[in-house]
Amino acid sequence: MQAQRAREAEQGSKRVYFHTLGCQMNEYDTGKMRAQLERDGYVVTDDPEQADLILVNTCSIRDKAVQKMHSALGEYRRLKREGQDVLIGVAGCVAQMEGGDLVKRYRDVDLVFDPDGVPHVRDLVREAEARRGSGRQVLDVDLLDLDNYPFVSDLDPASRGQVSAFVTIQKGCDNKCTFCIVPATRGAEVSRPHAEIVDEVRRLADTGVREITLIGQNVNSYGLKTPGEIPFSELLYRVHEVPGVERIRYTTSHPRDITDELIAAYAELPGLTSHLHLPVQSGSHRILRRMKRFYTRERFLEIVAGLRAARPDLALTTDIIVGFPSETDEDFDKTMTLLDEAGFVGAFSFKYSPRPGTAATHYKEGFDDAVSQRRLEVLQERLRELSTAYHRGLQGEVVEVLVEGWSKHDPGVICGRTSQNVMVNFPGTLDRLGKLARVRVTRGFTHSCRGEAVA
Ligand code: 5AD
Ligand code: SF4
Repeated sequence: MQAQRAREAEQGSKRVYFHTLGCQMNEYDTGKMRAQLERDGYVVTDDPEQADLILVNTCSIRDKAVQKMHSALGEYRRLKREGQDVLIGVAGCVAQMEGGDLVKRYRDVDLVFDPDGVPHVRDLVREAEARRGSGRQVLDVDLLDLDNYPFVSDLDPASRGQVSAFVTIQKGCDNKCTFCIVPATRGAEVSRPHAEIVDEVRRLADTGVREITLIGQNVNSYGLKTPGEIPFSELLYRVHEVPGVERIRYTTSHPRDITDELIAAYAELPGLTSHLHLPVQSGSHRILRRMKRFYTRERFLEIVAGLRAARPDLALTTDIIVGFPSETDEDFDKTMTLLDEAGFVGAFSFKYSPRPGTAATHYKEGFDDAVSQRRLEVLQERLRELSTAYHRGLQGEVVEVLVEGWSKHDPGVICGRTSQNVMVNFPGTLDRLGKLARVRVTRGFTHSCRGEAVA
């Protein structure tokens, strides 16, 4: 480590440590910051104690995520107090919501900027470097002008050699789901020009990436509000044409914006994977209305039936919130029965967390944390059963996986995902990396499967 530090110091390079909280948008933004800071001579370190710059990319979706930021900052400020010459930056959604308070509360944080600061992170960091030791903090939490929004085209250096990569297709969200803080932190929806998206996909495919995940807060409303832009379904066809792209995934989509054309794409595009993450949030129509989701339970089931007709082997996962204000036992039961009716094989489940400024915080009924906790436990128990049953159901079948790398736990074991997004671990070597492998599933567990390659 010392030798490496001396070598880098000689080359004039500085080290940056990233701590990323939250969703795939934040992961992607961190990647774009890595790419830009590399151009200013920064190298990425995985040790905060070796860093010249620490950037915490924050999430405000639930209170728990915000608490994680505070404890991370506590840790990094301690390094500074103990004498490490380091600049500390706070990026992301909490910065947007609480930037002014953060700089007051944490006088030793040097730099605070929101998600719209990502495209000009180099200027922000240079400014913080120039002010080093002056006590004057850099604060930039202004949302950018929506016309000509500067999506960053530099590729994340960490995507080199990867089999799978994210590509952002839009920023922000125009929905007003009453529980959600995202429209406040990430601003209005802007669709990235499709030519830029296809170009990024092409460049990633040239570096060996085989699987592209198109990301945004509400990807299937892509293009709808931009005159002359193609719709999301058409974008899938364009990305599908790029040589080298074996698989396409996307996240997150909104049931309201699932069109017939998008459903038809499941019948027509073999590279579009047989997995859809479609957040339903609740199985009760009454709660869906109060969440301002703009679909009914019946409409959701109709969409699911259409998708399954187009793609019979589709694996469906979802997001569910329990304990939303006024949710009764009866409403919760409707969520539980929807699990089977929709045939979900997994879900992310959350206790409702009131977010400052969101409409649901004004609902007079409030919510009871102990009740939410009990419902969450019941729901999660059932979700574990469903995913275990799904994985056990694969035992004996031969599946096709795209090999991603070594398994996390076992030496000599590699892993890959099926089109349905099931993780399969099997003995092998990395000469299969980035290739499709046929694997017989021998065991199904809650979160993954075990198997063996077949000729
Ligand atoms: N409380 C709990 N869960 C939330 N989500 C969004 N906002 C909240 C909140 N205030 C969940 C939704 C969304 C996922 C990304 O996070 O289920 O789909
Ligand atoms: Fe939040 Fe709803 Fe927008 Fe998703 S669609 S980011 S839940 S407001």
